[in-house]
Formats: sequence, structure tokens, C-alpha cells
Amino acid sequence: MSGHGTPIPMTSRKCGPLNGEAAVPGDKSISHRALIFGALAVGETKVTGLLEGEDVLDTAKAMRAFGATVTQHGPGEWSVNGVGVGGFSEPDNVIDCGNSGTGVRLIMGVMATQGINATFTGDASLNKRPMGRVTDPIALFGAQSVGRSGGRLPMTIVGATEPVPVEYTVPMPSAQVKSAVLLAGLNAPGQTVVIEKEATRDHTERMLEGFGAEISVEETEDGRRITLTGQPELKPQVISVPRDPSSAAFPTCAATIVPGSEVFVPGVSQNLTRNGIYTTLVEMGADITFENERLEGGEPVADLRVRYAETHGIEVPPARAASMIDEYPVLSVVAALSTGKTVMRGVKELRVKECDRIDAMARGLRACGVTVEEDEDTMIVHGMGPGGVPGGATCESFLDHRIAMSFMVLGMAAQNPVSVDDGTPIATSFPVFEDLMKTLGAQITRDNA
Ligand code: S3P
Repeated sequence: MSGHGTPIPMTSRKCGPLNGEAAVPGDKSISHRALIFGALAVGETKVTGLLEGEDVLDTAKAMRAFGATVTQHGPGEWSVNGVGVGGFSEPDNVIDCGNSGTGVRLIMGVMATQGINATFTGDASLNKRPMGRVTDPIALFGAQSVGRSGGRLPMTIVGATEPVPVEYTVPMPSAQVKSAVLLAGLNAPGQTVVIEKEATRDHTERMLEGFGAEISVEETEDGRRITLTGQPELKPQVISVPRDPSSAAFPTCAATIVPGSEVFVPGVSQNLTRNGIYTTLVEMGADITFENERLEGGEPVADLRVRYAETHGIEVPPARAASMIDEYPVLSVVAALSTGKTVMRGVKELRVKECDRIDAMARGLRACGVTVEEDEDTMIVHGMGPGGVPGGATCESFLDHRIAMSFMVLGMAAQNPVSVDDGTPIATSFPVFEDLMKTLGAQITRDNA
């Protein structure tokens, strides 16, 4: 089982205005998929702007273990020589996906219909997360799985030798599950249909189409109905990975709560399945202008200019949850520094992320003096107004990058320093977070340095 090495406690202190450009790294979801689809194409896929975070590097290793040739040529510049749909070979060893739910769930989906076996493991966080949401649908294709009790990793998947196509309604809003089923459907003959009641991030659908698969999406009364024709030959692509809107949320929220700030965040995806946080921040009174709207690598993007603003609490529409699911932790920080309360309902999926994110944020915010109410599916943060959060606590990051970064953002505007017990998970998705935030003016220190 992998970990993140020796824990590194980190502290963030109240700072002066944040100023400058925050060019965040490539999108994590698209980076995983670029490597996986590249591995399934016949020929060489070229990728620029790949996120070189631990999660994606673990997926690169996994693709090599299944037989693809994955090469780094320079910073963010990679190539993948694929083996074709159905061409995976059986790995010699256990596949360690580290901290990455996206990595393990998508890869389980791909290999489930390839007549090979593979055993998966991860770090202490990933090995607690539910895998039944993927093993249930892949069983319909004919794959078998044996894991620890509760459907946890380590787990062995016995891929179906004669897969059958399926029709499956995804029971929870999850792009990982939707994608795992579509990826399994790639090597099943005939049409696989996936229905999702709420739209989740659509990178898999967009990229499958880009790689030449026959895929259609229909909006029906039951939700989005995605039909994929199995056993295509995927054609290699040239992929330019756009910057990650989930990572961009950290400098955006930081600039919103630190008085006097003005930060330029270039190339932020405005894909409607990803941009809920930006709509929400604007509704709360954040000062964000969306400049130079354009298409990059097939994704709608804009440059954001973010200035400090006094914000107020709102009721976040539950229907928006899927489009900002990874941003609730940092939103709860902005909520703590807003006037009035922010009500976040329909967010129970947060409980099965890298950690239980409702619990982790509630604990840390309370330790910093903020009143938080929660139930299974809801988090309510009672804002203390601009500059009103006492801070002065050490919060646990629970092996979760977004929890660690959220508390570092809180420390920039709280009255007293805010620490996390371990900042190492930040490297899974945003390895340059600390340096980039310091360049803008943040005061972050490593406490055991
Ligand atoms: C992801 C989907 C989301 C998200 C994760 C990335 C993806 O997870 O939280 O960070 O790339 O498909 P769920 O599918 O569990 O909602």
C-alpha cells in the first residue's frame, strides 16, 4: 500500500493582498482520460499540458503495466502508444492507484471486459472508498470481483472473456461510475447504454467522440441517455489538456477573501458540467470577470480576473452539486468569511471522496471558531463576515488534497494562523500549489522544514 511519505505539517498566515497570475496545472479528469484513451487507441497519442500530479502519474504507470508505452518528453509533454480496444495484457503485479478514485475506477472499467485479471490497491484513503459502485455494473458485463469486505480495495477483477453489452442507470451522480461503464462497454459487442439522472462531467463522452467512437447523447425524461457502440478502433489524438477549473478555484477563492487582492487566472474551463463554483461565487457577490471566452482543446474556457469582494451566504441549488462537487470544501471557506449563512444541500457524495469532506471541513472550521451544521446530505456554514474567522487551529487533512488546500486558503484571511497536520496530499492534484500561492503573496510555511 502506498502512502504520501512522511507527513508535512503546513501553516498559512494572514497575508497582504494577493496579486499576479495564477496559471494552474492541467485538468486532472482530462489528464487521466488522455492516458487511458491513448492506451486504447492504435498508434501514438500526443498530450501537452498533462497534469503531472501523483494521481495521474499512477495512471501512467498503470497503463504501462497493461501494455501501453507511455513516455514523458518534457514538462507536461507526453506520448502514449496504445494497444487498441481489447488489447490490454495482464499486469505482472498489483496495480497501485495511490490516492486516485478516478484512476482506479476508470481502469477497472476498461479491463473488466478484456478477459484478463488484475489486482488493485491504493493508499489508506483509497482503500476505504466504496468500489461496489463500479463492481456492480461491471458484473453485468460478466466480470467478477473479489475485494475486502464492503467492496473495498485491495481487489481483484476477473475480466469477462465474452462480455455482453448492458443498459445501466447510474444510481448516484458520478462521472467515475458513468465512465467506468462506458469504458467497459468499449470492448463489448453491440450497444452499451448508460443513463444518468443528473448530468455529471462529460469529458469521457467528449473524448470518446474525439477518438472516433460512435457515441450519442440524448436528453430524455429519465435523464441523459448515452449510447456507445462497442469494439471501435480508436484513432490516436493530439490532446492539449486545459487548465483544471477545480485547481483554479483555490486562487479564485483566496483572492475573493483576502482584502485588496487582484488575481488573473487564465484558461479556466467553463464547461457547464464543471463551472458551478464560479456561478455560485458570483451569486455570493464575488468580483469575477470572465475575459477572452474561447474554445481550447474542445473545452470552452475563459480568463478570470478576480478581485477581493465582500461576499454573502446563499442557498446553493442542489441541482448544481454535480458541477462543483470537488469545490464544496473551498466554498465552505468563502462561506465562513461571508455574511449570513450558506446552505449546501444534496451533497452526500462528499462523504465518499478522498475522505468524508463534510466531516473534515466541519471539524476544521469549528476548530477555527466557525459554526457549522450538518446532516447526511447537507452542510450549513454560518458566516462570520469578512475577516471574522478567528482561526488559530491545526486541522486534519485526512489524506485529502482539497481539504489541505482549503484550510491553507482559510489561513490567508483568518485572524490567526491555520495549520494542517499533513500537506503532502496536495501533490496528488496541484503539486505547485504552495509555490504558486506564495508567488501571489500567500504566507505558507512547512512546519518541519
Ligand atoms: C471525477 C469525478 C468526480 C470527482 C473526481 C473526478 C472524474 O468523482 O469528484 O475528482 O474525473 O470523473 P465522482 O464520479 O465520484 O463524483
